[in-house]
Amino acid sequence: MPVSDSSHVLVTGGTGFIGSHTVLELARQGYNVVVVDNLSNSCEEPLRRIEKLTGLKDRIPLFKVDLADKDGLREVFRQYSFSSVIHFAALKAVGESVHKPLMYYRNNIAGTLNLMDAMIEFGVKNIVFSSSATVYKADPEGRPFREDSELGCTSPYGRTKLFMESIIQDVVNAEQGWNAIMLRYFNPTGAHESGTMGEDPMQIPNNLMPYMSQVAIGKLEKLHVFGTDYNTRDGTGLRDYIHIMDLAEAHVAALRRLPANQGYEVFNIGSGSGQTVLEMIDAMSAACGKKIPYSEDPRRSGDIDTILCDPTKAAEVLGFKVSRSLEQMCADLWRWQTTNPNGYEQ
Ligand code: NAD
Ligand code: WQD
Repeated sequence: MPVSDSSHVLVTGGTGFIGSHTVLELARQGYNVVVVDNLSNSCEEPLRRIEKLTGLKDRIPLFKVDLADKDGLREVFRQYSFSSVIHFAALKAVGESVHKPLMYYRNNIAGTLNLMDAMIEFGVKNIVFSSSATVYKADPEGRPFREDSELGCTSPYGRTKLFMESIIQDVVNAEQGWNAIMLRYFNPTGAHESGTMGEDPMQIPNNLMPYMSQVAIGKLEKLHVFGTDYNTRDGTGLRDYIHIMDLAEAHVAALRRLPANQGYEVFNIGSGSGQTVLEMIDAMSAACGKKIPYSEDPRRSGDIDTILCDPTKAAEVLGFKVSRSLEQMCADLWRWQTTNPNGYEQ
């Protein structure tokens, strides 16, 4: 259902990996989008590609504003009338957050406070927030996480996500008329099926799939498998991978849910099934038609055996289910990697 009024959706972090694919899906479905991003971990090029892919005649407005800049943010709200906000902008590297905790608290939490201030000032009371499976306390038995599973983070990054959820919840409780949906994502990967959009890490990737695809194309020598003695079917870590375009569609489903006026709600967004690191190597090898060199290395500090999603609530309430397979995730990731070996760099 395309949006019928002239109001806009504000997407913070809209040039980043998940944000840009969501902007693409929003544009495809007829939403008017405005992006705020300080480009600290992205560039403008994804927006040009979205315009091409969707045949948009006008450029998607991008404000190169840091969420720390209250006045800059206010100016965006002054120029556009927003029906809702999707808030992606954050720093996200777990390891870096351990070494630079204040940078993470300042960027993620202060940024969210400024955003909420602007929303209150301009009467915008609908928000979808990028949360993460990292907010859950590790389950020793590896049971799938439900939205009411016990919370508990082990990194400053994870704590910023938990604090941001709480800040938003407190605002919803304090003020009439707010609707907020927290989406706790599991492990997003893949790329748009066109091969023109995907994840473009600015440094050596921390996450498994971007690292693996850079090994496959020869930019990195080999994959390091972190731990082979986990309590999983082959000893390597098991995760719930979700195609980036499925995740983008989940955001549109959440946006559509906001007018149901349910106040504060939380949804897990994942597939409900998991793959081990070795299974992901096999799947990616099949997609790119070559062996991916790897070594078996010690565990990475802070990792756990299994992180699995129980996607029941999102299916029942949002009507959201993943529709793309593991094979498609790997094929799309490989298409992006081979057609854009240097990412968005021209
Ligand atoms: P990303 O780094 O690609 O995108 C984040 C974007 O936010 C970047 O474009 C960056 O430039 C921008 N940004 C950061 N701080 C900003 C600030 N202060 N002001 C303005 N812009 C700012 O990351 P992503 O993978 O697209 O993640 C998006 C969101 O999803 C993040 O909030 C992240 O914590 C969350 N998340 C990501 C994953 C994942 O595996 N990628 C999993 C769960 C949750
Ligand atoms: C997956 C598996 C690793 C890299 C992270 C964040 C989480 C969320 C999603 C933001 C694990 C193994 C990895 C490598 C490997 N992000 N691995 N070699 O750790 O599940 O989740 O991203 O919210 O908060 O922690 O994802 O892709 O890093 O790891 O063997 O080079 O791959 O040990 O088992 P993770 P990941």
